[in-house]
Amino acid sequence: MSLSSPEEPLISTLRVFLTYEVKAPDLKVTADSAMLAEGKRLATMVCNQCHMAASGKLEGQEMLDLPAAFGKAWSANITRDEKYGTGRYTDGELAYLIRTGIKRDGNYAPPWMPKFPHLSDYDLHSVIAYLRSDAPELAPVAKAQPPCQPSFLAKFLSYVAFKPLPYPTAPITAPPATDKVAFGKYIATSKVECYGCHSPSFETQNIMEPEKTPGYFSGGNAMPNKEGEIILTRNLTPDKTTGIGNWTEEQFIKALRFGQRDGKPALRYPMVPYAAMTDEEASAVWAYLQTIPSISHDVDAIQSK
Ligand code: HEC
Ligand code: HEC
Repeated sequence: MSLSSPEEPLISTLRVFLTYEVKAPDLKVTADSAMLAEGKRLATMVCNQCHMAASGKLEGQEMLDLPAAFGKAWSANITRDEKYGTGRYTDGELAYLIRTGIKRDGNYAPPWMPKFPHLSDYDLHSVIAYLRSDAPELAPVAKAQPPCQPSFLAKFLSYVAFKPLPYPTAPITAPPATDKVAFGKYIATSKVECYGCHSPSFETQNIMEPEKTPGYFSGGNAMPNKEGEIILTRNLTPDKTTGIGNWTEEQFIKALRFGQRDGKPALRYPMVPYAAMTDEEASAVWAYLQTIPSISHDVDAIQSK
C-alpha cells in the first residue's frame, strides 16, 4: 500500500485506535512458588524481548525493529509502578488485556503487542502473578514511555485486520505433556505463538484459529532487525527442500534452545533462542511440526530477489 501524500490528510481524521468497553473478569490470582516460577519463565520467553530495557528492568523501550510502515512505537512500562506501570491494573484487567488486546483505558493495544487468546488459565494466571512479584526487574520505575505514533497503515489495519479478540467464556486448560503432539501444538500456537512469526504475514494471521492461517508455518514473514535489515522467517513445515524435512530432532532442539546449528550460530535477531524452554517442550514442538501440512515455500528465493 502506498503511504504517500494523498492519504496523509486522513491521518488527522482517523482516531489513533478505536476505544472499547473493558469487560474485565472478576479475578484475584493466588499463586504458589511453582506457578510464580512458571510465570517468570513464560515472561522470559514471550514478554521480555519487547518490554525489557537496557537497564534490565521491564520499563519498556522504543521498538526499533518495527517495520517502518507501521510508524514508531514504544513498548509499555510493565514494572509494578502504580502510576506508570501495571500497578494501575487489577488482575482481571491484566487478563483482559493479555487475551483481547484491550487496555484498562479501553484503547486497543496496537498489533505489535501480541494477544494470547488460547493461553491456558494456569499460564495466564502465572504471568499475572509474576508481574505482581518482587522480582528486581519489576521494581517500580516512575517513567512513562511516549505514546505510539502509528502510521496510516497501522491505523488502517487496526480497522480491517487487527481487531480486539473475544474474551473466552469457558476455562482453558493446556494438554498434558504426555499428549506430546497436542502439547507441542499448544506451545507453538498458544503459549509462544511461533506460527505468528513463522507464517507469511501478520496481516493474514488467523489468531482465533491458528491452523487456518494461510501458508501456516511456511515462513517468509519479513521482519526488520534493529539495524533495519530485513530478515525473513523460515519455513518450519516438513517440506524436504524448503522446510525442515531433512533436519533431525536433535538439530532442531539445538537451534531452538541455543541458536546453534552444527556448532555454529544459526539464528539472527529477531529469532532469539528459547533457552528457557525445556528439552521436553522443544521435542513436543518438533513432534507437532512433523504433523502439519508440508508447504513448498522457498524463503531464500524471496530473500535474494
Ligand atoms: C512484540 C513486542 C511485545 C511483546 C512480545 C509483548 N508486548 Fe506488551 N506491549 C508492547 C507494546 C508496543 C505495548 C504498548 C502498547 C500501546 O502503546 O498501547 C505493550 C503494552 C503492554 C501492556 C499495557 C501497559 C499499559 O500501559 O497499559 C501490558 C500490561 C503488557 N504489554 C504486558 C505484556 C506481557 C505480560 C507480555 C508477555 C505475555 C507482553 N506484553 C508481550 C509490545 C510487546
Ligand atoms: C519474533 C518472531 C519469531 C518468533 C516468535 C519465532 N521465530 Fe523462529 N525465526 C524467526 C526468524 C526471523 C528466523 C530466521 C533467522 C535467520 O534467518 O537467521 C527464525 C528461524 C527459526 C529457525 C531456524 C530455521 C532454519 O531453517 O534455519 C527455527 C528452527 C525456528 N525459528 C523455530 C521457532 C520456533 C519453534 C518458535 C516458537 C517456539 C519460533 N521459531 C518463534 C522469527 C521468529
